[in-house]
Amino acid sequence: MRKAGVGITITQHILNQQRQNPEATGAFTTLLSELIVAAKVISREVNKAGLVDILGSTGKVNIQDEQVQKLDVFANGVIVERMQHIGELCCMGSEEVADLIEIPTEYPKGNYILVFDPLDGSSNIDVNVSIGTIFGIYKRINIDSDSDVLLEEVLQPGVNQVAAGYFIYGSSTIMVYTTGNGTGVHGFTLYPSVGEFLLSHEDIRIPERGKIYSVNEGNEQYWDEKTRAMVNYFKGSDNALGRPYTSRYVGSLVADFHRNLLKGGIFMYPADLKDPKKPSGKLRLMVEANPLAMVVTEAGGYASNGSGPILEIEPSQLHQRVPLYIGSKKDVEDAEAFISGKK
Ligand code: AHG
Ligand code: MN
Ligand code: MN
Repeated sequence: MRKAGVGITITQHILNQQRQNPEATGAFTTLLSELIVAAKVISREVNKAGLVDILGSTGKVNIQDEQVQKLDVFANGVIVERMQHIGELCCMGSEEVADLIEIPTEYPKGNYILVFDPLDGSSNIDVNVSIGTIFGIYKRINIDSDSDVLLEEVLQPGVNQVAAGYFIYGSSTIMVYTTGNGTGVHGFTLYPSVGEFLLSHEDIRIPERGKIYSVNEGNEQYWDEKTRAMVNYFKGSDNALGRPYTSRYVGSLVADFHRNLLKGGIFMYPADLKDPKKPSGKLRLMVEANPLAMVVTEAGGYASNGSGPILEIEPSQLHQRVPLYIGSKKDVEDAEAFISGKK
């Protein structure tokens, strides 16, 4: 007799996690469930992007001083619209919006903070390469307060995240998330015929050392000597492998990160002197580095800014950038030793 079931849905998985957490109120389950609806809407648009006028640039430049793609704007709008009415958030922070996004007065407020990169890998949108959405969830410090949320309440170190994860819109749409505290990292694949994310990668563990390094070598002339020495270490034969690592670089952080999470390896976006306005490199602490740092750490890996754990950085600005070395623990520790001058 064929099994009637479709396997474990993401909703079932979140509810199981909620049941294991005595003080869980269901607020978090509501939050994650609504974010999943937003991702399904974005996934649908991404998968038909070639057919509708949603490709290309808006001709505008965002707070990040980067060309805004139409799909960036669309994805940001979908998440804000879906999430603002559920009554579980006190505010949101988006890569695409300069300031905190307040919850409109007509909707009830909650005690969670959602920070997100609505569409990661924008340069790949119109060439059919995997892109994604990255998110992190924090608890408000002054819970149940009616006062407006202060930026200081949002600028918490990544170690305070109560959950984090990402969606990849690629050959299939996959969601990976963790609630930390030893609950593990789990991946779900969207079955369009069912319209549900089903458990496909239970308890993901990243190999403690990989064979892949991911970096944009086109930035080499903008790196300092330590950074060059570090990249040459992975390209050379005097590393722990005794032979060169394989180079893989997609240009979408979520895609490069996900591959290294499953296979092992290190992704690097070093500080560079390419843009004097961005001495700490290109990637954002709050909406890219911290969420992925929580995922990789829970999966047994490590994320560093070159001198210490990403998760322990005390943020000073909503859109601050940070050098990022993330992936297999021993590879990232080697990279950190070069950048901090110990190697
Ligand atoms: P976003 O599209 O959200 O701005 O992120 C793009 C990031 C990240 O996805 C990727 O790793 C990196 O930009 C690639 O940068 P380079 O093109 O400079 O290598
Ligand atoms: Mn991004
Ligand atoms: Mn983005």
